Amino acid sequence: MSAEIINGRAISDELLMGLKAQIENLRTQHHVTPCLAVVLVGERPDSLSYVTNKDRVAQQIGMASRPVKLPSTATQDEILRAVQELNADIKVHGILVQMPLPSHVDAETVMAAIDPAKDVDGFHDVNVGKLHKGKKDGFTPCTPMGCMVLLHRVLPNLKGKRAVVIGRSNIVGKPMAYLLQEANATVTLAHSGTHDLASVVAEHDIVIAAIGKPEFVKANFIKPKDAIIIDVGINRIERDGKPKLVGDVDFAAVSEKAAFITPVPGGVGPMTIWGLMDNTVKAACAAHNITRAR
Ligand code: GUN
Repeated sequence: MSAEIINGRAISDELLMGLKAQIENLRTQHHVTPCLAVVLVGERPDSLSYVTNKDRVAQQIGMASRPVKLPSTATQDEILRAVQELNADIKVHGILVQMPLPSHVDAETVMAAIDPAKDVDGFHDVNVGKLHKGKKDGFTPCTPMGCMVLLHRVLPNLKGKRAVVIGRSNIVGKPMAYLLQEANATVTLAHSGTHDLASVVAEHDIVIAAIGKPEFVKANFIKPKDAIIIDVGINRIERDGKPKLVGDVDFAAVSEKAAFITPVPGGVGPMTIWGLMDNTVKAACAAHNITRAR
């Protein structure tokens, strides 16, 4: 048996079309154009590629984008000043500082400097707190948000299901576990300290792989027949002398055993970008007291 592919690219494209219509409506009815500022410090090729993608999608859906590029030698104060300028700019609705930052910069201090009302990544303590208290006026981190949409496409009701999140990062693992339990799944948060991870994962109907290790989740981790696999990993490896993008799941082997699986690329990645655009439209509506059309 071969698993059905969850086509994140197609689902993201469909949702982005909906956002494009909302943005057009905001522009014509309210004279507001949602604007996303993306701050990139340094020139890491992976970060540069993510930022370019975000910029391209923003333009495709009619959103204004404001790229801010700083050299890898930028001091923490210079980065904070750039963030403060964007906080003060009423034309900017969303601010994203691409992570990771160079090692001489304290990322926590930078995240804390972003106005929570513009924190479309959902990384600020205020938004983390709002998420965990079930308050709907904050921002949910984009990747977990996208994963939940993918999951709901194949399983609208998670009640009674057991879900395991592998990886406990602030960006993905922790908010993901929170969203799954809010959706009535019974959740295990597994990590590098989990004993006999393969057996633990095999007890679950839903697997969210977010450990950042190429093809770490093998077929023997997977409950036969009805498991749903969401692969958050984006790992650049070399295979047969060529560069290749792989997830945290051994796709070839696991897709023989599971019911549904997301591919890499074309699974979670495009949904993260949708999440970011959706949060930016939400920020623009909130900034202008506009009730959001759905
Ligand atoms: N680096 C990798 N993923 C992310 C993300 O979701 N947001 C930001 N700001 N940086 C990232």
